[in-house]
Amino acid sequence: MKTRITELFGIKYPIQCGGMLWIATPELAAAISNTGAMGNLTSGNYNSGDELRTAIDRTNALTSNPFIVNITTMPSIRLSVELLREFFEICCEKKVTAIEIAGAPVDTFLGEDLIPKAKQAGVKVLHKVGAVKHAVHAQKVGYDAVTIAGFEEGGFPHKDNVSTLVLVPRVVESVDIPVLAAGGMADGKSLAAALSLGADGIMMATRFLATKESGVHENIFQTLLDKKENDTSLNLQSLLGDFGLQVRALRNDIIRRVEEIEKQGGALEELFPLISGQRAKKVWQEGNVEEAMLTIGQSVGRIDDIPSVSTLVPRIIEEAKASLVSSLDQLS
Ligand SMILES: Cc1cc2nc3c(=O)[nH]c(=O)nc-3n(C[C@H](O)[C@H](O)[C@H](O)COP(=O)(O)O)c2cc1C
Repeated sequence: MKTRITELFGIKYPIQCGGMLWIATPELAAAISNTGAMGNLTSGNYNSGDELRTAIDRTNALTSNPFIVNITTMPSIRLSVELLREFFEICCEKKVTAIEIAGAPVDTFLGEDLIPKAKQAGVKVLHKVGAVKHAVHAQKVGYDAVTIAGFEEGGFPHKDNVSTLVLVPRVVESVDIPVLAAGGMADGKSLAAALSLGADGIMMATRFLATKESGVHENIFQTLLDKKENDTSLNLQSLLGDFGLQVRALRNDIIRRVEEIEKQGGALEELFPLISGQRAKKVWQEGNVEEAMLTIGQSVGRIDDIPSVSTLVPRIIEEAKASLVSSLDQLS
């Protein structure tokens, strides 16, 4: 398969794993990259530049294929702007294939000098966005590619609540750089649909969470098999609305408590302990699914097995081809 994204990144298949805090580790990134898709190493897993350096070295030891490093550019108590800048510079120094910026644009949030620095190092920079105007900005300031994520996505969708089906062709028609489609992508039918909408490939996260190599607790796997497309909800508009964002997470006890607090106009100090990343880290490992905010997308409704990534990726490619052929047959 050849698309502008496989050419840009030097990968075999136009499938990228999205950033996943605590989940997108060197082991998962390398396992995905070894299939010919693009693995993701999420820098937010680490508390210092040296920890990220070690993680990049470990990923390089496990795969000789390209992988992308996610830098989530949102205000954070744990990860200062200075540290996020350092993460970006380390990616340039280590000459990783690509950086995935998610959140505020790198030029305004971390510094105008960084995209030129990446270009000089031969590192591609992709921006994950949730609105057409942000994709246009990304192209203008020199990003190499964009991912457009509809509000189906797990994590931090744009507050506009526009679906992937509408956003993908809107972005494809608005920029000239390669476009990945995200939010609700789960299989070969999704890939076929994204290509038909003009995208150059897909990005998925929930689907990769539901693979053996994600290393989460058995209860999480069972939850991913049991939950359907209407088992997630959009929350935290009170906290993230000013940044144009909100959270899509599994509807569980914690999210119901968050909802109550938001409804009553409760203080942020009440919310923070419930939504902390440390809580989620514990739950991914220990499996108490009601006890943390778990960022999971609507695509959970389309997951009915826990394969290894080496089964999943070729299956998606074969299914996409079959799906496109069958659509053509129907038209002829
Ligand atoms: C478990 C999990 C953790 C995530 N953590 C992050 C993160 O740290 N940074 C980020 O930019 N996006 C994060 N996301 C969002 C994904 O990168 C991606 O945008 C989204 O999940 C795509 O939609 P899908 O889940 O329907 O495939 C996370 C998603 C999941 C499922």
